[in-house]
Amino acid sequence: MTKPNEKLNQQFVLVLENGGKYKELIARSVRGLKVLSKIMPDSITAGEIKKLNPIGIIFADNSPKCDKEIFNLGIPVLGIKESGKDIISDKELLKNFLFNTCGAKKAYKLSDYIQEQVKEICAKVGNKKVLLGLSGGVDSSVTAALISKAIPNQLVCVFVDTGLMRKNEGDEIEEIFGKKDLNFIRVNAEEYFLEKLKGITSPEQKRKVIGEAFVRVFESEAKKLDGILFLAQGTIYPDIIESGGGKHGATIKSHHNVGGLPADMGFEGLVEPLSGLFKNEVRALGILLGLPEFLVQRQPFPGPGLGVRVIGEITKEKCDILRDADAIVREEIGKLSKKPNQYFAILTDTDSVGVKNEMRTYNKVIAIRAVDTDDFMTCNYTQIPHKILQHISNRITREIVCVSRVVYDITSKPPSTIEWE
Ligand code: XMP
Repeated sequence: MTKPNEKLNQQFVLVLENGGKYKELIARSVRGLKVLSKIMPDSITAGEIKKLNPIGIIFADNSPKCDKEIFNLGIPVLGIKESGKDIISDKELLKNFLFNTCGAKKAYKLSDYIQEQVKEICAKVGNKKVLLGLSGGVDSSVTAALISKAIPNQLVCVFVDTGLMRKNEGDEIEEIFGKKDLNFIRVNAEEYFLEKLKGITSPEQKRKVIGEAFVRVFESEAKKLDGILFLAQGTIYPDIIESGGGKHGATIKSHHNVGGLPADMGFEGLVEPLSGLFKNEVRALGILLGLPEFLVQRQPFPGPGLGVRVIGEITKEKCDILRDADAIVREEIGKLSKKPNQYFAILTDTDSVGVKNEMRTYNKVIAIRAVDTDDFMTCNYTQIPHKILQHISNRITREIVCVSRVVYDITSKPPSTIEWE
């Protein structure tokens, strides 16, 4: 696995954490001040830190359980008395530490990242070819743009239309990427995915089946193409921290990753050019690479797609109902000047009694979810004005014949998660 910023041979600040929630915000604030930051758990030893040679150390949690020798390394330390929250809210405290105590230079520039990665990709790939699973999400789109800058004729982008995409999404993705110089291949695999998912109701089982179906589709595409030796993934820095990548990563969760393909597909290696970046940096890089604003600002959409938003067994009919409801939710909430970080519809597996045209109905229940979050690890439900919720409910029940009831999810994370499954 590529280590974050391995090749960025420049000064950096080490952010040490013990599972608290401020590590990312602190690391991003440091980068916002144009100083490179890296996150590691506070179980790292003083000897290991010495080898890494950071210009400063910030403890993201104020009760670290660290190797006490760290304080004898002669490297400036911040955050033993202050909490992670203080460090983020008090910009002067952070600036003073970086520029006065550590003598940091404002040297970290995102635009340099493009040139460095272009060089690195060319050196790694040589004259071989790379296959990228392009979902149309922010990370894989920016990955495509970056790799195609480096090796335009050696990249193949495979977009799998699983039938679990949002309304018109497959066509939109084809419209955007089909025109670019990306050797874009769209595989329409709706029937295949739905067949595999028949009768499955457990969320974990669904994820497994969907992950496996992706693998089979990629396998069959790779076989048709000649000389594909590398697999590209849109892995970003938090993915590595969260899934325990590298020696010091703490495992928080590992999501189903569409790119997790088996070794017997014959790839020689991985190309993960975004693995040193946070999401906000990936978006900024996308703009620098000329991707349209709406694409780089897209909200996250899970790999298993509507598969984890249709509760219970998945059928085409249910996906179509959810697609229509979800399009209304996104259109209406999308009009807000301050949008939630993620907002979508869920098709519950409950039927409910209703009245339409003075007749009793027994129809579907749609739930609306909208959340505000910095890192998607925790979230608050968004307090959408009732007038808007009412308008959405009216539209959904009027425009989608088989929906009789709409509910709004008012749970935060924890205790719930963002997705229902
Ligand atoms: P949860 O539901 O865990 O979601 O609170 C946190 C964020 O992750 C997304 N998510 C997924 N993304 N594969 C993905 O690629 C998955 O299986 C998956 N499950 C959740 C979710 O949309 C939210 O942004």
